[in-house]
Amino acid sequence: MSSLPADYMEFVHISKQFPGVLALDDVNFSVPQGSVRALVGENGAGKSTLLKILSGAHPPTTGHIRIADREMAFEDTTSAIDAGVAVIYQELQLVPELSIAENIYLGHLPAGSMFIDYRQLWDKAFENMRMVGLGDVSPKVRVGRLSIGQRQMVEIAKALTRNAGIIAFDEPTSSLSSRETDVLFGIIRQLREQNKTIFYVSHRLEEIFEICDSVTVFRDGRHVATRRTMEGLTRDMIVKDMVGREIVDIYHYHPRPHGEAALKVEDVTGPGLASPVSFEVRKGEIIGCFGLVGAGRTELMRILFGAAPRRSGNVEVFGRTVDVKAPADAIRAGIMLCPEDRKKEGVIPGLSIQENTNISARRHHLRMGFLDKRWEYDNVMEKIRALAIKTPSQRQLARNLSGGNQQKVVLARWLAEKIKVILLDEPTRGIDVGAKSEIYDIIYRLAGEGIGVVAVSSELPEVMGISDRILVFSEGELVADVPRAEATQEKILSLALPQESKKHFRGEEI
Ligand SMILES: Nc1ncnc2c1ncn2[C@@H]1O[C@H](COP(=O)(O)OP(=O)(O)OP(=O)(O)O)[C@@H](O)[C@H]1O
Ligand SMILES: [Mg+2]
Repeated sequence: MSSLPADYMEFVHISKQFPGVLALDDVNFSVPQGSVRALVGENGAGKSTLLKILSGAHPPTTGHIRIADREMAFEDTTSAIDAGVAVIYQELQLVPELSIAENIYLGHLPAGSMFIDYRQLWDKAFENMRMVGLGDVSPKVRVGRLSIGQRQMVEIAKALTRNAGIIAFDEPTSSLSSRETDVLFGIIRQLREQNKTIFYVSHRLEEIFEICDSVTVFRDGRHVATRRTMEGLTRDMIVKDMVGREIVDIYHYHPRPHGEAALKVEDVTGPGLASPVSFEVRKGEIIGCFGLVGAGRTELMRILFGAAPRRSGNVEVFGRTVDVKAPADAIRAGIMLCPEDRKKEGVIPGLSIQENTNISARRHHLRMGFLDKRWEYDNVMEKIRALAIKTPSQRQLARNLSGGNQQKVVLARWLAEKIKVILLDEPTRGIDVGAKSEIYDIIYRLAGEGIGVVAVSSELPEVMGISDRILVFSEGELVADVPRAEATQEKILSLALPQESKKHFRGEEI
């Protein structure tokens, strides 16, 4: 008697207990070869934990993984690598001080003599770098000098050199430009053709419809559904599986009254800007900044916050010129920046949620020089509630939180400050659909309290969903200032495209 061929790999009764948190609860599902399986779920649902078990970084509390017909007990990362598993983590694992080539071969340098054959190392590394679109960078360059997107590509090149049969990507596109994302999707399609088993974690559902063949949904550590085909599947169905309820409108925008100018930027120039930038944000107003990655938005935010030098121009906060030379000047003037790279500039992994949240604003709440314990506790508890931070306690170390919940903690820190103007760079990166909606509510509330809000986002629906006005950036220039009522997807996107592709977009000859 022959039965149906079993799927190539299977998670069998996997559970993972952390102190106070059951991260995975009896997870069972299987995946065929030659296909891309999406893993989706809210922040803290257990996606990264499952991949860490797959990679041998964490042992499961119960259960095992079956690959082909072998039961695997991944006790460490080496045994997972030997079994042909490569996981590209949410937090990149590269060593900034080493070169790209050394990073790619870290742990499996090509054997030869007692000495490393650098010529061979560079050549082989370069082959894989070309595949991931890094053909114009030298393999000798230190990883510390690369952009986040480029580092992500180095991680992928590293997985490719291992020739793994199972490859998992944990939110790979959250720091990639749209061109880099296209390159990545090209690679994933090739891997699928080579009959590999691929896992793809993302909060961007459009990507899942573009690249995945099937979807597994997690909620609170439990496997809630596996959809074995994308046929007939809608975005709303996935969201409903994820959050257990329907979400009708995640933006629920409503207009607010606007007052005098909260922030006035005149002819500001600096690194990353091709021409002087001028704009105004009024009290209570939400300004969205849209552009493709590299359009100059992050650079402008850093200049306004004093994290990058301003070469010329003038900045006013509520009618007063402010001379911002360093972030401390900006904070004193009431300008706050919630940075894009929250891993580097944000969360302090070894401190608790409470410390991370209060560390900056507590200076306003001292009692005769001592910490105000009551305020410290109330503030962190309020932020945990308001941002729906998933944790067993406010004393939990930030490093034990899921990626999206770490992002929320950084947001919590800046929200505790005394703010007149807030600059939010990609405020919902890595945040799940349901929690996005909560963050939008907080942004509306800040604006409602009379704060000027500037929000940078690479997600066009988000920018259009929450902004009163949209500033469009392209190639280091502010190219348009579009009121909400006049904003359409086509208009904003065509403004944001670089000159060359713009002609293409309009169907003209180049
Ligand atoms: N080392 C750890 N110690 C304690 N708890 C942990 C640890 N790692 C993860 N957790 C907890 O396990 C749960 C699942 O986390 P996980 O990182 O797998 O979520 P996720 O689905 O990847 O979320 P996100 O979308 O935010 O990345 C969370 O509640 C998290 O706080
Ligand atoms: Mg995660």
